Amino acid sequence: MHRELVQISSELIKALDNAKHVVVFTGAGVSAESGVSTFRDALSGLWARFDPMQLATPEAFLADPELVWGWYEWRRQLLLKAQPNSAHQAIVKLAEQVPKLTVITQNVDDLHERAGSGEVLHLHGSIFKPRCFNCAKPYTLAEPPAMTHEQALPPPLCPDCQGMIRPGVVWFGEALPQAEMEAAFTAAENCDVLLSIGTSGVVQPAAQIPQLALRSGAWVAHINPEPVDCQHPRELSLVGAAGHILPLLLTD
Ligand code: OAD
Repeated sequence: MHRELVQISSELIKALDNAKHVVVFTGAGVSAESGVSTFRDALSGLWARFDPMQLATPEAFLADPELVWGWYEWRRQLLLKAQPNSAHQAIVKLAEQVPKLTVITQNVDDLHERAGSGEVLHLHGSIFKPRCFNCAKPYTLAEPPAMTHEQALPPPLCPDCQGMIRPGVVWFGEALPQAEMEAAFTAAENCDVLLSIGTSGVVQPAAQIPQLALRSGAWVAHINPEPVDCQHPRELSLVGAAGHILPLLLTD
């Protein structure tokens, strides 16, 4: 098997060639080349421009539902316009080249699915699956209104209980969806190679996933334009954009 990038460790290539189960664990950086803002990049990151404590907690929603709902509707509109990039597409191709591949994402977009990935474990929910804040019933959204920037919008009301509809994302202080989290942790414990792509690795409990894979004997490669400090002999940092590096991991 030949691959173009000689810097990629031959041990990682060998581990990928022999892997029975590969886990792809993604963060906002995998969607960056689709024009979607990350959270923590110094200038362009959403949390550099907006205060998460005013937008991404249940308390913030109750304090100012129009601000929070409008901000997520603006993001939903941007995400609907975004297209999957070559990183999302390479993950779909990689799934065809290994016996089993599990995609775990922290992203609330649907770019993995639109690229063609089958089951995707969304640890932080989906911006496209809003529900009632009060009774949790799922709510079907209309197209978002045309918005050129974030603006306050009143959330719709639940047809059943008149509670406010909230974005279907996991906010700070909230629990992750249990079934997804259990499936993700089990996959990390049972994989041979884990690719951690475009994540700052600071939000718990998702950030434990690469460590869990390492402790369970897997190889872990971080794919990020920023070098990642690697402490373990089976851990590697592949420095570069996901849309560039991931296609290089594919079989010719
Ligand atoms: P961050 O914004 O914290 O990190 C994005 C990472 O992507 C950074 O390490 C960047 O260096 C890297 N990056 C940027 N461009 C890239 C590219 N082209 N290819 C590869 N990597 C690139 O985003 P997350 O780690 O996903 O929570 O953040 C975790 C959670 O924090 C998010 O899920 C969100 C946020 O609060 C919720 O929505 C609940």
